[in-house]
Amino acid sequence: MKSIILYSSNTGNTKKIAEVIHTTIPNSVLVNIKDNNEVNLEDYDFIVVGGWIDRATLDTTSLTLVKNIKNKKIGYFFTLGASPDSEHAKNCVDNID
Ligand SMILES: Cc1cc2nc3c(=O)[nH]c(=O)nc-3n(C[C@H](O)[C@H](O)[C@H](O)COP(=O)(O)O)c2cc1C
Repeated sequence: MKSIILYSSNTGNTKKIAEVIHTTIPNSVLVNIKDNNEVNLEDYDFIVVGGWIDRATLDTTSLTLVKNIKNKKIGYFFTLGASPDSEHAKNCVDNID
């Protein structure tokens, strides 16, 4: 199975997590979402999108990508300022789904 991890990161938090995920998925490719146009997502069976939380939802670039991927196995993750256990974090998930 071919896997790709695309991430969006301004201050480096999401990039760090993406790099760790990259090491856990064999033969995966790691790409900064800004370079998304250089890859053909059709070539991948599993697409992971990593973004950062902007006003309680996924940053616009990542959210647009997540919403536009059809007929693929997809996963997403995000980093945020709030605690991952917080109501706010749960609301972020609800806002993305
Ligand atoms: C404009 C802006 C809006 C943000 N909104 C939220 C928010 O609603 N909730 C939250 O928990 N963190 C929020 N954050 C914090 C970021 O999601 C957090 O610092 C994230 O880890 C940044 O990722 P990066 O280092 O990959 O850029 C916001 C940060 C910025 C710059």
